Amino acid sequence: MHKPSEHILIIFGASGDLTRRKLIPALTELQKLDLLPEKFAVLGIGRTDYDDASYRRMISKYLEDPGEMLSMLHYLSMDPEDKDSYVRLSDRLTEMTAVRQMVPNFIFYLATPPGLYATVPAYLSKAGLTREQDGIWRRIIVEKPFGTDYLSARDLNISLLGYLQEHQIYRIDHYLGKETVQNVLVTRFSNGIFEPLWNRNFVHHVEITSSESLGVGSRGGYYDHSGALRDMLQNHLLQLVGLVAMEPPTVISSDAIRNETLKVFQSLRPITGEDIKNHVIRGQYMASHVRGEAMPGYREEDGVPLDSRTETFVAMKLFIDNWRWGSVPFYIRTGKRLPTRVSEIVVHFNPSPHTLFCERETGAGKGNQLVIRIQPDEGILLKFGMKVQGAGFKVQDVNMDFHYEDLTNSYIPEAYQRLLLDCMQGDSTLYTRDDAVEAAWRFVDPILRAWEADPNVPLHGYPCGTWGPEVADQMIEGETYTWRYPCKNLADDGLYCEL
Ligand code: BG6
Repeated sequence: MHKPSEHILIIFGASGDLTRRKLIPALTELQKLDLLPEKFAVLGIGRTDYDDASYRRMISKYLEDPGEMLSMLHYLSMDPEDKDSYVRLSDRLTEMTAVRQMVPNFIFYLATPPGLYATVPAYLSKAGLTREQDGIWRRIIVEKPFGTDYLSARDLNISLLGYLQEHQIYRIDHYLGKETVQNVLVTRFSNGIFEPLWNRNFVHHVEITSSESLGVGSRGGYYDHSGALRDMLQNHLLQLVGLVAMEPPTVISSDAIRNETLKVFQSLRPITGEDIKNHVIRGQYMASHVRGEAMPGYREEDGVPLDSRTETFVAMKLFIDNWRWGSVPFYIRTGKRLPTRVSEIVVHFNPSPHTLFCERETGAGKGNQLVIRIQPDEGILLKFGMKVQGAGFKVQDVNMDFHYEDLTNSYIPEAYQRLLLDCMQGDSTLYTRDDAVEAAWRFVDPILRAWEADPNVPLHGYPCGTWGPEVADQMIEGETYTWRYPCKNLADDGLYCEL
C-alpha cells in the first residue's frame, strides 16, 4: 500500500458528531499505521469559535490515544454560508501550504447538514479552490443523505457538476467501506466454486438483513424526515444488492465496478401499484420491555412528533429483471430497535431435486445457505446437510464457518479509514457514482410517493426487541423458508398493531 500524495484535508462541520466520532478517529488510525503523507494537515471549519489550541483540546476528549494526530489539526472559524469568508479560507490554505512547502492538493469533506451541499462547492469554486491544474488535485467528499428523492438527488448532481468534474466528487456510502462488504466481491470473483452457482438456476432466493438494536437516539429530528427507506435501504442495502447481484467486472477498477452496480440498479423491477402494499412492509417501533428494561416507542423519542408516520423498519421483496436473476426474489430488511445489531447476506440455494433422506432438521430452509456476515463477527458460513451418526439416514445442518477474527492478522479497519485513504489516493471504487445514486432513487421514489399519498398503505407497529412487524415475516415464510433469525425476539410484552 503506498502513501497518498501530500495534501490538506478540509472538514466542513468540524465540531460535529461525524467528525468527532468517525473522521478524526479514522485519521488517527491512519496516522498510527503510517499511511498519511509526510506533508499533511487537517483544517477544521465550523461556526463554533475555536482556535487551533481549543479545537485540539475539544477533539482530544474523544480520542483515547491521539498519537501525533492532535498536532496535525487546525481550525478556522467561519460561516460556510458567507461567500466572503472563502477568501479567508483561501488565505489560510495558502499560508498552510507555504509553511509546509507543499503542493496545494485539497480534499474538502462536507460533514455538514445537507442544506450546505450545494452552497459550499459553489463558493469553493468561486474562490478558485476546486480548480485542478498542473498536476494539482482537488476533491470533495459528500456525506449522505444524497438527496431525499430522485429529483433532489439529480438537482444536487447537476449543481455539483456545475463546479466540479465527476472524478473530483466522492459520494460516501460507508457500507462500501466495510471490509466484509468488499469481501463479497472477492468471495464471488476469486473462487471458482461459487460463481457457477450464483444465478437463477441454483439460487432459490437471497436475503439481506441490516438490523440495529438501538433506537433513533438523539437523531429524531433528522430521522423523522428520513425514515428507514431513505436512511438505510436506498443506499446501504441497495449497494449490498448491487454487490451480490452484479456481473463480474472486466477489471477491478472504479468505473468497471460501478458500471456493473449501475446495471443492477437499472434492472430492478419497479415496485408500483398494489405491489407496494404487498412487497414493501413498513413498521414503526412501539414501547415495550426488552429483558425487563422499558424501551420508549419511536413517537416518544426527542424530536419526533406524537403522530409521526415515519417508518423505522422496512422489508422489501424485489426482483432483478436480467438473465442471471430473472424470477429470483431478493428479500431485504432493515430496522431500528430489533433484537440485535447484525448485517448479513444469505444466499439460499435450491434444495436437492430429489429427496432421498426424508428427515432433515431445518434451519431457515431446506437448501444450502451461504451466509456472509458483514457485522459483527465478520465472516462467512456455509450450511449443508450431514448425516446424524447412528442408525438410519437422518440429516442435520452443519456449518462450515470462517470468522475473520481467526486470522492471525485479523485487524479490520473501520469503514471511514478505508474510504478516507481511498479518496486520498484518488480511488473512487468504493464511492457511489452520480448515475447509480439516481438509479437507486428512481427505484424507491414510487414507494415514497405512494406512502405519502395513500393513507391506506399500512404502517405496522412492532414492539421494541422484535424482528419487526409480523407481516414482514409472512412475506417470506412458507412451509420451507423463513428469514434467518440471528436471535430470538426479546420483547417481554407489547402488541403488534396497525398505526
Ligand atoms: C447510517 C444511518 O447511514 O448508518 C444510521 O444514518 C444507521 O441510521 C447507520 O444507524 C448504521 O451504520 P452501521 O455501520 O452501524 O451499520
